[in-house]
Amino acid sequence: MGTNAIPPPGTRRPLGGLRRTLVAGALGTLVLGTFAAVTVPGSAGATSAGSASAAATTLGAAAQQSGRYFGTAISAGRLGDSQYTTIANREFDMITAENEMKIDATEPNQNQFSFGNADRIYNWAVQNGKRVRGHTLAWHAQQPRWMENMSGSALRQAMINHINGVMNYYKGKIYAWDVVNEAFSDSGGGRRDSNLQRTGNDWIEVAFRTARAADPAAKLCYNDYNIDNWTWAKTQGVYNMVRDFKQRGVPIDCVGLQSHFNSGSPYNSNYRTTIQSFAALGVDVQITELDIQGASPQTYAAVVNDCLAVPRCNGITVWGVRDQDSWRSGDTPLLFSGGNKKPAYNAVLDALNAATPNPTPSPTPTVTPTPTPTPTPTPTPTPTPGTGACTATVETTNSWPGGFQTTVTVRAGSSPVNGWTVQWAWPGGQSISSLWNGQHTVSGSNVTVRNAPYNGSIAAGQSTTFGFTGNGTAATPTATCTSP
Ligand code: G3I
Repeated sequence: MGTNAIPPPGTRRPLGGLRRTLVAGALGTLVLGTFAAVTVPGSAGATSAGSASAAATTLGAAAQQSGRYFGTAISAGRLGDSQYTTIANREFDMITAENEMKIDATEPNQNQFSFGNADRIYNWAVQNGKRVRGHTLAWHAQQPRWMENMSGSALRQAMINHINGVMNYYKGKIYAWDVVNEAFSDSGGGRRDSNLQRTGNDWIEVAFRTARAADPAAKLCYNDYNIDNWTWAKTQGVYNMVRDFKQRGVPIDCVGLQSHFNSGSPYNSNYRTTIQSFAALGVDVQITELDIQGASPQTYAAVVNDCLAVPRCNGITVWGVRDQDSWRSGDTPLLFSGGNKKPAYNAVLDALNAATPNPTPSPTPTVTPTPTPTPTPTPTPTPTPGTGACTATVETTNSWPGGFQTTVTVRAGSSPVNGWTVQWAWPGGQSISSLWNGQHTVSGSNVTVRNAPYNGSIAAGQSTTFGFTGNGTAATPTATCTSP
């Protein structure tokens, strides 16, 4: 990816029950380049009878068994530390830039965008078969100096311009964006005062509408801390905003619970209620910045189990790799100490391995059409639900010497689709190194991708996507889609 010449500045101011069956068959395990062996959930044709059983041995692989991800925050400055990158590459399948995609890093001078460090992290992630969460586009903190000093319509326009600039640059490449970060007050359930808030209460929905138009493929998240405890006013304030957005059609796809747990903001067993309540509004829930003071194994396991209990809680990110990498390293809140797995690591892995495969983490709402009376029945065959045709559109979303990333959109025709198969032939010896949201088999140059257990059902006219990183020269083959 290109970048302009402006280096991103340093950020300046501190902020005031089923053990997974590893299928031994041909479809069950993908070896992902430098990434560890990763199991594919619900491989086609797999049955428990006759399959070897074993637990996944990395966090990402364990989470994938229930259709979820397990991620970490990465700092560009640590990519030269081989202990850090070895652990990060082995264990995690979703990456968030800890500081490098923030406003001060990506637009240090107005209208001069800078993606050097952001790209370092992005490229490291996709070259290692991982997806990327974007963090963050509109926030009162870590604004560049020029934005801090703005107000009113000029600031509103600058926010819109920033969202467009960054999202267009990464269009089609980011799994989910934290569009707006930390906009609520720590007490009382209302909005936090900020220069953005002072542009008008609608700034959040303007940010989300702008984001949807800029990259329709990205999930759009509202992200905040201290919204984990269901009884807290701040949690209720965010809940009411999300409910209002869903009622009025403001585009929002997920809520990010940062989940920085410490003695002042401890884990509470009503966390599951919080996750369930947000999910019931029709949004995904992602745990986006998890760290726990002291890293109690029991508390880590409880957090994981609460997420696993809610189908729309579709991923967990810990805020750093080793304790020494944490923004509050004195709290030793993470899963690794130096190169060693802590007891909390094993608690998380065991909890993930005990998960039941996730049936439908992100259901597509089905619209029931109002029946129209037909005076003269026409003798045309009634389409059988679930047998509709589908199409597949292949798009190269990134490439680098010797590799590339592709997104494939699978769209249902005029009938719903229950299960899909996409096939293509590589033109020039390409191969897949890592594929997500699907299960693939290869025969010579022919590739067949079937739906994952959680994305086979597509409502009429709706779509889902899967993606992969490939080896070789980027190619955009024509793909066919069939549905049983
Ligand atoms: O890189 C510079 C270094 O060159 C300089 O010498 C040093 C002196 O202060 O600062 C270094 O930058 C620091 C940067 O982290 C990188 O380590 C900044 O001061 C420091 O403010 C910055 O803190 C980050 C913080 O966000 C800023 O708001 C943390 O790393 C980062 O973990 C933290 O992440 C936030 C999420 O974005 C939002 N939710 C809360 C979370 C924790 O605060």
